[in-house]
Amino acid sequence: MRALIVLTGVALLCTAWAADKKKDGERSKTFTRLIPADVLRDFPNMCFASTRCATIAPGASWELSPFCGKSTCVKAEEDGRLLELVEDCGPLPKTNPKCKLSEKTNKTAPFPHCCPVFECEPGVKLEYPEIPTPPPAAAEKKRA
Ligand SMILES: *[C@@H]1O[C@H](CO)[C@@H](O)[C@H](O)[C@H]1NC(C)=O
Repeated sequence: MRALIVLTGVALLCTAWAADKKKDGERSKTFTRLIPADVLRDFPNMCFASTRCATIAPGASWELSPFCGKSTCVKAEEDGRLLELVEDCGPLPKTNPKCKLSEKTNKTAPFPHCCPVFECEPGVKLEYPEIPTPPPAAAEKKRA
C-alpha cells in the first residue's frame, strides 16, 4: 500500500495539466494522471478497483468515492499493459483568509461535482501550488 501511495505521488508530480481557469475564481480544473492498474492474478485482463472491490473492464470508468475522483481502466496500445487513468480535483489552493469554501461544495456528488468550490472577496484570486510540467524530453533529444 505504501508503495502505491508513493507511486501515485510521483505520477501526480509528473502530470501535465490543463490550465483552463475560470474568471470567477471558481475551480474548473481537474487533473489526470496515468498509473499502472491494480490487477488481480485471477483476472489478468481487468483493472481492480480497490475502492469498489470490483474488477473493471478496459474502457470502463468508476467513481473513487469516498475520494473525489474518477478512474478509467485503459489498455496500453503498445504492450497491452493495463493502466488506470485517474482524474481528481488536484491540489488544494494556498490558504487565503479572503476566500472560503463555498456552501455549493457537495462532497457526495459524482466527480467532478464533488471538487471543492471556493468563494473569494471581490478581486481576490486563489493561488494554486505550482506543479512542474514534464520536461520536453523529445525536444531535448532532437537538439542533442
Ligand atoms: C449532493 O449531490 C448528491 C448526489 O448527486 C445529491 O443527491 C444531493 O442532493 C446534493 N446535495 C446538495 C446539497 O446539493
